[in-house]
Amino acid sequence: MALIEMTDVGKSYGAIRALAGINLRVDAGEVTCVLGDNGAGKSTLIKIISGLHPHNEGTLRVEGTEQSFSSPREALDLGIATVYQDLAVVPLMEVWRNFFLGSELTRGRFPLARLRIREMKEIADAELRKMGITIKDINQPIGTLSGGQRQSVAIARAVYFGARVLILDEPTAALGVKQSGVVLKYIAAARDAGLGVVFITHNPHHAYLVGDHFVILKLGRAVLDRQRSDVDLDELVTQMAGGDELTELSHELRRPTG
Ligand SMILES: Nc1ncnc2c1ncn2[C@@H]1O[C@H](COP(=O)(O)OP(=O)(O)O)[C@@H](O)[C@H]1O
Ligand SMILES: [Mg+2]
Repeated sequence: MALIEMTDVGKSYGAIRALAGINLRVDAGEVTCVLGDNGAGKSTLIKIISGLHPHNEGTLRVEGTEQSFSSPREALDLGIATVYQDLAVVPLMEVWRNFFLGSELTRGRFPLARLRIREMKEIADAELRKMGITIKDINQPIGTLSGGQRQSVAIARAVYFGARVLILDEPTAALGVKQSGVVLKYIAAARDAGLGVVFITHNPHHAYLVGDHFVILKLGRAVLDRQRSDVDLDELVTQMAGGDELTELSHELRRPTG
């Protein structure tokens, strides 16, 4: 059974039709890549799955049960974790503290509950190591980590808290080549841990390195939907570059001869 199955899903913001006729399937242990230019509808798609903005057409099933989320909490409770590009981290907060943010381990009951600090540090340290993330000191502020490391901590956190589906919105967009490689490694690690990963990107090279399934959105519609065995990198690059439009443009830009 699919972790997530969208059938003919559409979403309008007032008069703007941001998405229409979307069919998407997310399976455990696979990376589903959603590609598209700016304004294609990628963020809208993940906001529907992560419970931020409900869809207004079609159906969304999570492990076979139809859902229409009215808050991110509802999606999270079903194991759907989202890592946003502008990570919701407090830059001065220690790495371990950030790892447990919103899900702190406590002893005793409110209002006398006390944080189990040593345990949280140990767990955060062990979990990051398990994912192969090496951080000098679990007590250092998260703001001192590189963009790639921050994304990696967020991925490790989702895995530890039992996410079944991990959604990443353009995690490599602001990163250089090497840092992007780091994030792609953790995407592969999450996949190997059995999560269904939804990887949003406009970089077909990044997508092809880790993807099992590719969907390209354009103006809110899917213009390509293929399994890895049915598409090669060249075709993804061409489709993302605009394909026919690019050929047309090259005619227009041709130097005058003679
Ligand atoms: N909250 C919103 N209100 C109105 N229009 C929106 C909103 N969010 C997105 N849109 C519009 O929906 C379309 C798709 O946007 P988005 O999903 O952010 O695309 P992408 O993430 O691929 O760049 C765009 O035309 C955008 O302007
Ligand atoms: Mg976006």
